[in-house]
Amino acid sequence: MIEGELVRLRALERSDLPAVVRWMNDPEVTRYLLSAPLYGLEEMDQWYNERRGTDDRVLAMMDRDDELIGYCGISRLEWEERRCNLWLIIGERDAWGHGYGADTVRTMLRYLFDEENLNRVYLTVDEENLRAICLYERCGFRREGVLKSARFKNGRYRDDVMMAVLKRDWSAGT
Ligand SMILES: CC(C)(COP(=O)(O)OP(=O)(O)OC[C@H]1O[C@@H](n2cnc3c(N)ncnc32)[C@H](O)[C@@H]1OP(=O)(O)O)[C@@H](O)C(=O)NCCC(=O)NCCS
Repeated sequence: MIEGELVRLRALERSDLPAVVRWMNDPEVTRYLLSAPLYGLEEMDQWYNERRGTDDRVLAMMDRDDELIGYCGISRLEWEERRCNLWLIIGERDAWGHGYGADTVRTMLRYLFDEENLNRVYLTVDEENLRAICLYERCGFRREGVLKSARFKNGRYRDDVMMAVLKRDWSAGT
């Protein structure tokens, strides 16, 4: 378990999956996600099982009242290069705008840089996901480039913004 100032991050349990299915079937939540398959419980269970035995980590985000509000994780962990991809989704819309996103990102960065000694954490975000981009910038991420017409979603091609934060820059800012 990892403690933030507002959130507590613990391993995602199988019993959390019905909430994840609900979130992934909420168009407001998935609006800007790069990938949001309309999974039912059985497919979500399969997704959960497939993470086992890999370096991917999926964590449940718990709020101050110990309620499940979302999930986050890392993927594409490459130890030799000391880098990984970070993602997060607050599925409970009532929990948006309360600082849980920023606290989760900061808590994850602290863990990945200080505990795991990674050097680079990166992510890709829809160009129109301004709430997310603003949050990532506040947490030290910088824009590194734009993938033009990277994906077809909601009737048109969309650009993706690539962002990353390096340990040295993050350490200088804390
Ligand atoms: C994106 C997400 C993680 C943000 O978490 P959050 O806890 O709601 O973040 P907050 O609203 O506290 O902070 C976002 C910042 O963006 C700002 N913001 C909100 N809406 C904005 C908008 N439309 N345009 C510009 N900035 C905006 C807020 O003012 C806030 O900045 P501030 O604290 O300096 O005022 C969360 O809303 C979420 O999970 N959304 C659905 C899934 C998703 O898009 N995940 C990210 C995929 S890359």
